[in-house]
Amino acid sequence: MTHTRLAVAFENQFARKPQLFVAPGRINLIGEHIDYNEGFVMPTAIDKHFIFAIAPSENNLFTFIATDLDEKISFSLNDLKPGNRWENYLMGVIDAFKRRGKVVGGVDGTFSSSIPSGAGLSSSAALCSGFGFALNEIFQCGLSKLDLVLIAQESEHRFVGTMCGIMDMYASLFSSPGSVMLLDCRTNTHEYLPINLDEYSILLIDTKVKHALHESGYNDRRAACEEGVRTLQGKYPMIKSLREVTIEMLESAKSMLSNDVYIKCFYVVHEIDRTLKAAQLLKSHDLVGFGKLMYKTHWGLSKEYKVSCEESDWLVQWASENEVTGARQMGGGFGGCTINLLRKDKTPMLIDQVRSKYFAAFKKEPDFYQIELSDGVHKTKSALDWRER
Ligand code: GLA
Repeated sequence: MTHTRLAVAFENQFARKPQLFVAPGRINLIGEHIDYNEGFVMPTAIDKHFIFAIAPSENNLFTFIATDLDEKISFSLNDLKPGNRWENYLMGVIDAFKRRGKVVGGVDGTFSSSIPSGAGLSSSAALCSGFGFALNEIFQCGLSKLDLVLIAQESEHRFVGTMCGIMDMYASLFSSPGSVMLLDCRTNTHEYLPINLDEYSILLIDTKVKHALHESGYNDRRAACEEGVRTLQGKYPMIKSLREVTIEMLESAKSMLSNDVYIKCFYVVHEIDRTLKAAQLLKSHDLVGFGKLMYKTHWGLSKEYKVSCEESDWLVQWASENEVTGARQMGGGFGGCTINLLRKDKTPMLIDQVRSKYFAAFKKEPDFYQIELSDGVHKTKSALDWRER
């Protein structure tokens, strides 16, 4: 839905003017399952987003219309409760404001999204980040963008039960067009890396295998890493996370770890290293070298971290045999999208061939998203506002 149509839908429903906010989904070039291990990741926002039309309410209630789902819900500050429906994410954000002593009044809102859900593009982080940003603006709470990142993460942890890292909300809030960020998940700081794709483009292929992180093995992976750290501390008491563990340290402590925990830590330690190497390659515009690291990440995710699926493996294998520069499963895993870095002139051929071959193999149609990099969460205007100026 366009900004203007959403604003009109709001006015029809609530009979006054809303403020408009945009909150994007994200891709991650490399550094997967690394944020909660305090390493480095490389995400950026894309041109698929939530749009919110919001205004303070007159009755202290929170009333939302999810226009894409044609659902309307109203609740008060006393009704906030965990769950895994869209309103629970919003409730979690409101609760996190409350916990910081930022008690907000009610709001009326409509929202719509072009981010496919369950595709690994962080629709839930965009929902929480955009809503937090809007509350902060509307009630002038004075929270920083980093506060809003932590609020969005807290909503997922406390209200939905996904023990996610900060990457998705950080990317949604801090991205800048024309660059990806090298995000340090220990210090919560970032460096923008300008990315000039020239003759390359980024294509996402949606396996159509849906995942919901709160019910997948995501939390188990995180728990395995934490167990690894606790055991390694027996030999290296100064470490706080896998961020400080070198490959040599891990090998020297191998016998102390179960096979499962060892292999998960093995993946993480190598992936942190790959991400730092990838940042250097990006700085020297070596996209071919970068692509090779993406493939390594994929097979690490698949064989070591075990968060891939047959469909993603098939797509990445096919890509590697068909001149795609780099490809891998992206996001939390267990389905969702693969991210493909390829020469622009190869894109139509790839889409054509993958569509039919994937269908023949899995009896379902993949989706293809040719994405552009975009700005982080921001306030915007509708055509109606522009006309009235
Ligand atoms: C999901 C989580 C992120 C991150 C990725 C994997 O998107 O929300 O915090 O852990 O998976 O890299």
